[in-house]
Amino acid sequence: MTENEEQIYITRPLLPDLDAFGEYIKDIWESKWLTNHGPKHNELEGKLKEALKVENLSLFNNGTTALLTALRALDLPGGSEVITTPFTFAATPHCISWNGQQIVFCDIEPDTMCIDADKIESLITPNTSAILGVHVYCFPCDVYKIDKIAKKHGLKVIYDAAHAFSTEIDGKGIGSFGDISMFSFHATKLYNTIEGGCLTYNDERLKARVYNLRNFGIINEDEVAEIGINGKMNEIQASVGLLNLDLFVQEQEKREVVRTKYIDEISEINGIRVPVMPKNTTNSYQYFPIVIEKDYPLTRNELYEKFKEQKILTRKYFYPACSDYEPYRKLDSSSAGNLPITNKIKEKVLCLPFYGDLAEENINKIIRILKG
Ligand SMILES: Cc1ncc(COP(=O)(O)O)c(C=O)c1O
Repeated sequence: MTENEEQIYITRPLLPDLDAFGEYIKDIWESKWLTNHGPKHNELEGKLKEALKVENLSLFNNGTTALLTALRALDLPGGSEVITTPFTFAATPHCISWNGQQIVFCDIEPDTMCIDADKIESLITPNTSAILGVHVYCFPCDVYKIDKIAKKHGLKVIYDAAHAFSTEIDGKGIGSFGDISMFSFHATKLYNTIEGGCLTYNDERLKARVYNLRNFGIINEDEVAEIGINGKMNEIQASVGLLNLDLFVQEQEKREVVRTKYIDEISEINGIRVPVMPKNTTNSYQYFPIVIEKDYPLTRNELYEKFKEQKILTRKYFYPACSDYEPYRKLDSSSAGNLPITNKIKEKVLCLPFYGDLAEENINKIIRILKG
């Protein structure tokens, strides 16, 4: 057993073999090419495009910078409204705000916990410019319905696919839906480059725009065309990415064993629901969320504390909802009347420890606690 006997973590990062990584580092040291679209960066861009089954892909130093750049690249008017979900990580609404757009929260759908496509249209105003959906825990947004709504109202569609690495819908890469999607390669994600991320998109014309925005808006030595940012992935991040590309499928297989064991045991417990992936969608295996219903003897918070006492780290992910954050709680769309499902789910959801090397005895310990 490799993990600390004392503490059971929520996840453990996927790490390449140290000697293999050393070879990459040696290469970088010899070439002295550390960042700025180096050979490893370019190799990773090509390989990830294939792995994610997308037409175009641009790497970034993290997912947040990638999402900021996506909103910029689509030229959403300043002050326009972006309809999004409050059931997500802080980065999603923060990117909208940093980019000068207004957030309009839409409630979520209880099964997938993604933005409820049936509630989007009633929130559209003449000032709406885009819909930003999040594929929460890799459960897919209703991409087909959202596409129809966007076309009808002339809106852009952006997806935060931070949780959805390698997920496919009807055999297509999840990053091929909408105008642009963002993936995060943060250390806590299934596939990581320590920090990192990418944008994927179908319109090839975005490629040059994203490239320039990612590099301060610099076009050439004599010209800076617009207000860009530094979003470049460096060669060390790219090396981890190249090596982890060979490892993530094996990690997914190991996580499938953990998931099956969890599901087999948890399905016998009254009051705990395990959200089910839609049949047309493949799992990314990043999180294992459960929903604690009323007929379970403990509340979610009590269960969380019970795990903590036993040194088992679970996460109330996403609690609080983004609509509860100080900068957003006074928005009209943060009102309780607008977000009944979000406000229910945020009190009930708990992510369990989930990674390939989670020892069987620790899975059993977690299940024993769940069974009371
Ligand atoms: C849903 C979601 N969006 C955005 C991000 C931000 O990605 P990053 O940490 O790579 O900046 C994360 C995770 O970190 C996330 O979980």
